[in-house]
Amino acid sequence: MKDNKIKVLFVCLGNICRSPMAEAVFAHKAAAAGLSDRFLIDSAGTGSWHIGQPPHSGTRKELARHNIPTTHRARVVTEQDLADFDYILTMDDSNFDDVNALGIPKGKLRRFVEYDSSTGYQEVPDPYYTGHFDEVYDLVDKLSDGLLQTIREEQKI
Ligand code: 4NP
Repeated sequence: MKDNKIKVLFVCLGNICRSPMAEAVFAHKAAAAGLSDRFLIDSAGTGSWHIGQPPHSGTRKELARHNIPTTHRARVVTEQDLADFDYILTMDDSNFDDVNALGIPKGKLRRFVEYDSSTGYQEVPDPYYTGHFDEVYDLVDKLSDGLLQTIREEQKI
């Protein structure tokens, strides 16, 4: 990918609940800050069960409730992604370990929860199992603010 965009990839397990929600919320915040052109934002999963599918109805409902669009279709994270993307944010420890095992360059891989330590969460809980999509939305919203602030500082934009 030859361009000057800052490339941000959110990664979860199935790529239908948490990471497509984070992708859409973060993109919405970047747009609100007038920075859409500076970013390439995407999401992917470590598991292949849902390839090609739109986000889970719970994720779509939360996004619609906040007037945030999504056109994402689930895909699996690739080795090319690890080379292409500048910031790779994992939702839980298992995602972190799985991506780390692919041999990612040091410094690119971060836990998404690191971007707002005041939340007290060690991981983004998986609503596929908990059913609590509203809880995950509130967390993703806070973490996206923190991530955008950090990237703006690091990239001086
Ligand atoms: P996600 O949630 O990783 O947030 O997309 C899941 C979605 C699907 C499955 C597990 C977690 N699954 O086992 O199919």
